[in-house]
Formats: sequence, C-alpha cells, structure tokens
Amino acid sequence: MEKTVTDAINYRRSVRKYIDTPIDGDKVKQCLKNASLAPTSSNLQLWEFHHVTDKEIIKKLAVACLNQNAAKTAQQLVVVIAKKGLWKERSKANIDFLNKVYDKPDLAPRLQKRKKMFLAYYQKLIPFLYSEFLGILGLFKFIIFQIIGLFKPVYRQTRLSDMRIVAHKSAALAAQNFMISMAAIGYDTCPMEGSDTLRVKKILNLPRNAEITMVIGCGIRDEAGIYGPRFRVPFEKVYFKV
Ligand SMILES: Cc1cc2nc3c(=O)[nH]c(=O)nc-3n(C[C@H](O)[C@H](O)[C@H](O)COP(=O)(O)O)c2cc1C
Repeated sequence: MEKTVTDAINYRRSVRKYIDTPIDGDKVKQCLKNASLAPTSSNLQLWEFHHVTDKEIIKKLAVACLNQNAAKTAQQLVVVIAKKGLWKERSKANIDFLNKVYDKPDLAPRLQKRKKMFLAYYQKLIPFLYSEFLGILGLFKFIIFQIIGLFKPVYRQTRLSDMRIVAHKSAALAAQNFMISMAAIGYDTCPMEGSDTLRVKKILNLPRNAEITMVIGCGIRDEAGIYGPRFRVPFEKVYFKV
C-alpha cells in the first residue's frame, strides 16, 4: 500500500548508497507520470525526464556526477531537463487543446470570453515573454516593465536569466513530485546538482538548449546511505505569519 503524503514526505531522505536489489522501471515510470502532473508556469511544461536504466550509461553518468555514491550505486537514474526552447511547441499544444475543449457551437458567452482570453495568452503574451535575441530583447523588456512598474503592478521577470529560472522552477517541482511518489512506494532517491552538466548532456545526446535541472539517483536505501539524522533549522526561523 502507498504511504500517505505526510508519511512519504517524512520517509524521503537523500540516499547516497543503494542496495544491489533492482527496482521496477515501470514503477519509476509511473512516478515520472506523477512528476508530469506538477504545476508548471503557464502550463508550458518546459521539461523532459530522461529515465536511464542502461547500466553502461549509468556508469558514464556516475563519472559525470563527479563520482558521487548516490549515482555510482544507483539502480536507475532520472535526469530532469529544463528546455526553455520548447515554448513555441508547448504554446501550440495548449492552443490546440483549448480549441478542442471549447469547440462547441453553442458555447456560453462566459466560456467564449474565457477561450478568447486563454488564446490571447498563448498567441500574444507567451511569445512576447519568451521571444529572445541574445539576451538583448529580454533586457529591453525588463527596462520597459520596470518603467511601467513605477505606475502599476507588472510582471518583472522578463530577462533571459529570469526565463531560465522560470523553466527550472517548474522542472524542480516536477522532480519533487517524482521523489515523493518514489518514497510513497518505498523507493529512494537523491537529487544531485553536483554534476558536470556538459558531460551529462553529451552522454545523453541532449541539444545545447537543454539545461540539467538535476540528476536523481534511484534505488532502495542501504541504511548506510543516509548520512545522518535529518537537520532543518527551527521552523520558527522560516515561518512568518502575516
Ligand atoms: C537542488 C538540489 C541539489 C542537490 N545536490 C546534491 C548533490 O549533488 N549531492 C548530494 O549528495 N546531495 C544533493 N542534494 C541533497 C541535499 O543535500 C539534501 O536534500 C539536504 O541535505 C537535506 O537532506 P534530506 O534530503 O535527506 O532531507 C541536493 C538537493 C537539492 C534540492
């Protein structure tokens, strides 16, 4: 039986050493399906999940993960990718979906209005935000928005670096969905940003515009793979009731 959300969150630890027992790739894939249900900025889903089960590739990736035990002893690896460049394709997918959902001759005026608003979002605002030319366009938009922002609330995250953060934020939420889902079925994980991302990309034949959000080691915990009791700063230091 799957753990409850709270139990899975408590069970999840970053596990740096896994036992030799194989894990079921189909179950890992199911957890990745859960990952893809994470919230995502503008529902653009600018992510990919590369599920590595080939032992030779795991070996190569472990070296690229700076020989970390969490990769070396992993039964499988998941590489979470943020791909900002997918925005056009994903916008189109959203537009096609909206046209299908709202394709009714007797659409209520309220829904007609909603459809128009959503379509304008993907046909006008998203291209405006995501179009880029060597970072110059983003900087230009940023300056314009800072000026408008003197007079009214505006969206300010328009630079190239901001849009990269947007893509990584959503990919990281998906990664967390994945890790909690794995914990729920008694599988363990370790997120790793400690890797040579250029080498990881080469090993997986990823294009230049793919960015590694994290590599996740997967397996079943060896108790020695939990390096100590869980440490968090006192909750009062991070909780602010307003
Ligand atoms: C984005 C990110 C990157 C991380 N990179 C690494 C890493 O490269 N190697 C590693 O051993 N742990 C890595 N960790 C795991 C953290 O060290 C770990 O989450 C933290 O110490 C808290 O422990 P817990 O996950 O067991 O609660 C990473 C965690 C996150 C969220």
